[in-house]
Amino acid sequence: MSGVVVTGGASGIGRATAEVLVAEGRSVAIWDLSPDVAGVAQAIGADAGEGVRTAGLSVDVTDPAAVAAAVEMSAGALDGIDGFVHAAGAVSPDPTGALTDANWDLVVDVNLKAYAFLAQALLPHLQAVAATGDAHPDGASIVGISSIEGLVGNAAIPSYCASKAGLLGMTRSLAHQLGPEGIRVNAVCPGFVETPMLQIALDVPGLREEMEAEAPLGRMAQPVEIAHAVAFLLSRRASFITGTHLVVDGGATAVL
Ligand SMILES: NC(=O)c1ccc[n+]([C@@H]2O[C@H](COP(=O)([O-])OP(=O)(O)OC[C@H]3O[C@@H](n4cnc5c(N)ncnc54)[C@H](O)[C@@H]3O)[C@@H](O)[C@H]2O)c1
Repeated sequence: MSGVVVTGGASGIGRATAEVLVAEGRSVAIWDLSPDVAGVAQAIGADAGEGVRTAGLSVDVTDPAAVAAAVEMSAGALDGIDGFVHAAGAVSPDPTGALTDANWDLVVDVNLKAYAFLAQALLPHLQAVAATGDAHPDGASIVGISSIEGLVGNAAIPSYCASKAGLLGMTRSLAHQLGPEGIRVNAVCPGFVETPMLQIALDVPGLREEMEAEAPLGRMAQPVEIAHAVAFLLSRRASFITGTHLVVDGGATAVL
């Protein structure tokens, strides 16, 4: 049985997503820049059920040659690819909000361009699964990790906000393109989630309390709470959901 490619799967939301998918009996290939990626895949696979496979590949998602090789290796390791989760992400905070070529290219390339081009590179494999119709238990689908910063503005991270809003546009466009083939495409917009990416903010005195107060639930999310939303969208439980985004933010964007 085929499996899901999860970028950024060595840490935070990507890793939690890989763990939840494996617990649900789905095979995963995690792609990450992290040198620990093979060890993480092995750890995630330690308690996997029979027939569930895990693979960890050291890949820079902005490198087309590395991506092309990883697509083939993952299809071989998982016996086909039925899902793609783009959780690899970059942020380049600057309190002045200054844009530079360097911070724009880094953030937009990882968060947005890689999402679009990976979807394209993985498409023949997703199409092969979709062509089997109801024979596959989960069908073929894509989930991009956006952010509430793709819905609202933040002066310190303009390239991040633009990349995450762009990911939502790309999601709708892919859903339009791929719906007729039975491939669903959605995004998840997390609020503040306790991961290494947020550590730089959590180290600023008082900022954790400020972030927690923004959500009616009065706390930040744990990565697994985002992972459950991703796993839902990737499954047939979401069989009529495509071209949209699910906000998982403890209510932060529901209030002023
Ligand atoms: N943590 C939050 O509060 C939060 C909120 C909203 C959205 N997000 C988004 O969730 C996603 C996951 O972030 P996280 O919080 O789990 O962060 P994280 O830092 O824990 O994980 C991100 C992973 O992406 C990998 N990565 C970065 N650049 C890469 C590249 N070029 N190629 C391959 N891998 C690369 C990193 O090595 C890392 O393992 C990101 O897209 C982030 O923007 C995070």
